[in-house]
Amino acid sequence: MAEPGSVAWPPAPIRTERLVLREPEARDRPAVIELFASPEVGTYIGGPRPRDELERAVPEVPGRRPGHFVVDLDGAMIGTVTLDRRDTERPGHVLSGAGQAELGYMFLPRAWGHGYAGEACAAALDWFAGAFPDESVVLRTQIANDRSMRLAAKLRFSEVERFEEYGAEQWLGVWSPVPPSG
Ligand SMILES: CC(C)(COP(=O)(O)OP(=O)(O)OC[C@H]1O[C@@H](n2cnc3c(N)ncnc32)[C@H](O)[C@@H]1OP(=O)(O)O)[C@@H](O)C(=O)NCCC(=O)NCCS
Repeated sequence: MAEPGSVAWPPAPIRTERLVLREPEARDRPAVIELFASPEVGTYIGGPRPRDELERAVPEVPGRRPGHFVVDLDGAMIGTVTLDRRDTERPGHVLSGAGQAELGYMFLPRAWGHGYAGEACAAALDWFAGAFPDESVVLRTQIANDRSMRLAAKLRFSEVERFEEYGAEQWLGVWSPVPPSG
């Protein structure tokens, strides 16, 4: 995500065939807590967080910041898609050049297996490419995270490298708006 202020945020809600990507609202708080407390969701991203801790820590309007989209299906939050400024201090920063964002996604388990994450991420990437045409997007995921690896391939991320972090094998991929020729 570029520095706040360099592009209008939030954009107008982004509508896809089945979903809306929008800013978080107060009514999303229970779903945000459910997301971070879920053992299935946490399997490859550091584990679930205790529900009582989340009840204390999650603000009334959760996660309102540039690059953070709530994914809404029929008026209810089913997940989040994030595009954040990449932390170059972490492993896997082999790409050079300024302007790099990192894609993240988390969906409630009941929303898995319907193509919603793919649909939402594709829309967020389209928005990003329009707003920041000179920036690439990277994605880091555990290789053991089959669903996430399949999603990365479907979104046309291509492998840059594999590396160890948090005691697990990680995959770093890069996305750019124009598909490679040939
Ligand atoms: C990673 C994650 C978002 C993937 O969710 P997902 O629902 O599997 O991903 P997609 O949206 O790509 O859906 C693909 C599945 O929907 C199915 N599907 C059903 N209807 C579909 C449709 N209309 N269009 C596309 N796919 C459809 C596909 O067949 C596929 O199922 P399969 O994997 O069983 O073959 C989800 O597992 C998750 O939130 N995990 C926890 C958080 C996490 O680990 N994040 C990664 C951090 S980098």
